[in-house]
Amino acid sequence: MTHTLDVGLGDRSYPIFIEDGIMASVGADLAKRKIAKRFAVIADDNVARLYGSTLLRSLSDAGIAAELLSFPRGEASKNLQVFAELASRLAQLGIDRKDGLIALGGGVTGDLTGFLAASYLRGIPFVQVPTTLLSQVDSSVGGKTGVDIPEGKNLVGAFYQPKAVYIDTAVLTTLPLQELLGGLAEVIKYGVIRDFDFFVFLERHLDKILCLDQASIQEMISTCCRIKANVVAADERESDLRRILNFGHTIGHAVEAASDFSIIHGLAVAIGMVAALRLAVACELCKKSDAGRVAALINAFGLPTEIPADLDRERIKKYLLTDKKTVAGSVFYVLPTAIGSVVITNEVSEAQVDAVLSRR
Ligand code: GLY
Repeated sequence: MTHTLDVGLGDRSYPIFIEDGIMASVGADLAKRKIAKRFAVIADDNVARLYGSTLLRSLSDAGIAAELLSFPRGEASKNLQVFAELASRLAQLGIDRKDGLIALGGGVTGDLTGFLAASYLRGIPFVQVPTTLLSQVDSSVGGKTGVDIPEGKNLVGAFYQPKAVYIDTAVLTTLPLQELLGGLAEVIKYGVIRDFDFFVFLERHLDKILCLDQASIQEMISTCCRIKANVVAADERESDLRRILNFGHTIGHAVEAASDFSIIHGLAVAIGMVAALRLAVACELCKKSDAGRVAALINAFGLPTEIPADLDRERIKKYLLTDKKTVAGSVFYVLPTAIGSVVITNEVSEAQVDAVLSRR
């Protein structure tokens, strides 16, 4: 069964398709949509090896010409040098304005390819075929694209929406467990910020989700994408509502950076969500029982809830103050008021933050 959703952005609206095995029919659908006459598929070396031939076959079966360009896997490739190398290869292949890009992979590939699409020839169409849970429920939807520079992650980029997103749930079977767990942290985030019923769904379907039961996984991904699509449609450029998607990310990013990225993004977000819930309780915004219920679900999924004891608290604080979302020295937190709703506030005292960070 295919779940189909729409990201409603006027003439830049686009569909999201969620299906077991959809990779093999991407070509046929793209041919119908007439998005481009030729595509450059961009993937890291690992994903190119796993899924490159399936996607290329689907394109050639549909009469669409395509080239596969790969780059070394990992966040270290999300930089201006790899960006420039890929841009040169597009130019050497003669990719023109009638052609398009396909991002086949996780968040690094999607962000890098999206930014290439936004800037190569001042903008060519692109589509997303996300292959990690994190990219399926978050980064492939919403048009945030970009690369890292030495001064920080995602500091150079653009808002640039894809023409379509194809989510193949079959690919999750080859995803390393840590990456699956990282994606699940973002999944839980959606329940806490926006949808109590979805949170209850996650509590009830925990075992099925961890066993990758297709029906449960598809419903889960489709709900996350629906929530994200609604938020993005209401506030594409993150001037207001979209900031709620940063729940767990303020302290999470600081923990990730202070660990020198040895704690992967999703796991840092899980820790950051629990820390934000504790702040919300300290600020008397949220009941202790709600905070405990969310922490229990995070723990039941096998995700961490505590900042590792040996991580330097002063470094975490330093990163909190230099977060790119910090405004005029003031750190804003997305804090739950109940499961399913949040507020954005900077009315958090340093002592309250210290108390949360000092737990060991
Ligand atoms: N990942 C947060 C956002 O897309 O706004």
